[in-house]
Amino acid sequence: MKVLLIGSGGREHTLAWKLAQSELVNEVIAAPGNIGISGEPKCKSVNVSSEDIPGLLNLATSEKIDLTVVGPEAPLCLGLADAFASRGLKVFGPSSKAAMLEGSKVFSKTLMQKYSIPTANFEVFDNFDKARALLSSCLFPTVIKADGLAAGKGVFVCKDRTEAYEALDSIMNRRMFGIAGDRVIIEECLEGEEASFIAFSDGNSVVPLAGSQDHKAVYDDDKGPNTGGMGAYSPAPVITEALHEKIMNDIMIPTVRALESEGAPFVGFLYAGLMIRNDEVKVLEYNVRLGDPEAQPLLFRMKSDPVPLMLAAIERRLGGMTIEWMDEDSVCVVMASKGYPGAYEKGLEITGIRRAEEIEDVKVFIAGAQKKNGMLVTSGGRVLGVTARSKGIGSAISKAYQAVTLIKWDGVHFRNDIGKKALGR
Ligand code: AMP
Ligand code: GLY
Repeated sequence: MKVLLIGSGGREHTLAWKLAQSELVNEVIAAPGNIGISGEPKCKSVNVSSEDIPGLLNLATSEKIDLTVVGPEAPLCLGLADAFASRGLKVFGPSSKAAMLEGSKVFSKTLMQKYSIPTANFEVFDNFDKARALLSSCLFPTVIKADGLAAGKGVFVCKDRTEAYEALDSIMNRRMFGIAGDRVIIEECLEGEEASFIAFSDGNSVVPLAGSQDHKAVYDDDKGPNTGGMGAYSPAPVITEALHEKIMNDIMIPTVRALESEGAPFVGFLYAGLMIRNDEVKVLEYNVRLGDPEAQPLLFRMKSDPVPLMLAAIERRLGGMTIEWMDEDSVCVVMASKGYPGAYEKGLEITGIRRAEEIEDVKVFIAGAQKKNGMLVTSGGRVLGVTARSKGIGSAISKAYQAVTLIKWDGVHFRNDIGKKALGR
């Protein structure tokens, strides 16, 4: 089979690496891909943007692609899966209607309310004055969210009224996220420990991956602004066996059934971002794709070939399938540019990747780097993810950081506490 993989980040490098190991796959073509993907056996990158749907359709047709796998949310929200399916092409990723689960927080919150899926209490506003009036009487902290896609920056956890007014003003008046801020959600602030729960869905049946946990804040101890994710590990001991059952029964299956009832069956990776406190679980958000960096530790310890699962999802026959995992923990430490998630310099030479990968069961997945004059240089905020696997979370953490210390560039930043919460359990 020939697979087309859409996207260019660390998640896509990991997907390409994993897909290429499938006995069913002869070639993976990534659009636009990255330098890490291009270096993998059976893989190449072609310069077509992940949001150029006509260009991707042409590529899929001219390359006689058998299966398309979509990494990021934006092309899904733009209707990539609908366009591919209408041409009879097999695509693993939801339709634009089902992708509204991530593309519109008003859509997802209203769906959860309608189908009694546990989530924070909320109200929706399309008018600044009315939203501001609520803020003058609500309890703090409170959470304000732009409705639409905002590259992970549309959520403000506000500790007091001043911060809340500021957030509301940026979203609704100063239009920081454009039309994504036409509507806002103001919601109850939840406490607890966050975890990511991701599953294959065929629109009716759900096959769960192992649990994982991301680290969103840029600095140690969850301090500083939120990023796309500074590191992740799997499994996540906060998701006990009993909680796993509960998440499947109260959240994952009801969500897929709800979308089916709404005429938008969900085919793809369904991701629930959860807040867990004792034995209570609530949905913070949905994503319609694998998490980045959760994909790195998840796929690094997945024994099963994902391709048969993807094909089964597309053909609506996932029911009864299962996934096998290595009996080891995996940790990914993201190494980022100085200044990220704010402005940062690019073009800095990266050294040490080869030495890092000489350590057994260590793999470096590239997110924002490119070749320039024969050197590997930084080209993004999140530059790469050092991913390690070992028996026991403590040993996986040590191994990941042993590799991290070998990789260098000017101003490199990473968190020193990835996996610490799991160690505490
Ligand atoms: P989201 O994009 O909705 O996942 O929000 C990004 C981050 O904001 C989450 O990972 C949480 O850390 C935080 N967050 C979102 N909603 C809430 C909430 N209701 N209570 C507390 N924190 C939240
Ligand atoms: N790591 C969180 C996300 O992919 O949205």
